[in-house]
Amino acid sequence: MRIYRLSAEMTGFIDNQRKTGQKIGFVPTMGALHQGHISLINESKNDNNLTICSIFVNPTQFNNAADFQKYPITIENDINLLELAGCDILFLPSIEEIYPTQLTKEHYDLGSLETILEGKYRPGHFQGVCLVVDRLLSIIHCDDLYLGQKDYQQCMVIEKLVELKNYDLKMHFCETIRENDGLAMSSRNARLNESERIQATAIYDTFLYIKNNISLESLDGIKKTAQEALTSKGFIVDYVALTNEKLEPLDIWDGKSTIVALVAAYLNEVRLIDNMIIA
Ligand code: PAF
Repeated sequence: MRIYRLSAEMTGFIDNQRKTGQKIGFVPTMGALHQGHISLINESKNDNNLTICSIFVNPTQFNNAADFQKYPITIENDINLLELAGCDILFLPSIEEIYPTQLTKEHYDLGSLETILEGKYRPGHFQGVCLVVDRLLSIIHCDDLYLGQKDYQQCMVIEKLVELKNYDLKMHFCETIRENDGLAMSSRNARLNESERIQATAIYDTFLYIKNNISLESLDGIKKTAQEALTSKGFIVDYVALTNEKLEPLDIWDGKSTIVALVAAYLNEVRLIDNMIIA
């Protein structure tokens, strides 16, 4: 696997490859890689001639400085995993490469996506995500972009960014990869202690409860029970939401359209998010 650290060199290499007809797949990450990320690499390898992964812990998307400080960094392990997966190129930029002093920070008009759910609880987060992804896409001219559906709202936000900035690429939202007990794989899971790790499965159990009861109870009733179940398992819940696929809240269900259940909740210091398409 080739490793590039400089933006100009990264762009030069990719543009040369594209001139020779190579199709490029891109998987942006913040490192602390797990099988969820590797599944994105695999998808990209299936669809493209060259797969590029970036690792950059983006300070502008952390609305909480302590969260940024504690973000797990496991670069040697990440490189091993990427090599094993057959990733072709790793882009590993410094902060100066991503945010050179002359860069003017744009504001992205994300509409209501910015004020609901994660947007509401993490003010500024999605502007930071857009800033870094916009910058990465301006360096890495890719044909296909791979994102995990675990960050459902992020997928929608980046789709909006791609539309706003007219990036000519195909987006792939890839299935959430779960541990055997249902916990969605996430870099943040590394911060859970042994007992928190056991408690954390309650999120998946909550989705199963919602799925099994969606046509039996009112949506408000289901949300309330789900929230109480999480609280009784030691979570401090930011939200349990039931929405349509565009993340618009639902009060009633017509029995046939798509419902997405989304949860964000803290186990002590660690904030976990997850979602499931229920129907
Ligand atoms: O999902 C992530 O890891 C990050 O939000 C992303 C898309 C790499 C941007 O920093």
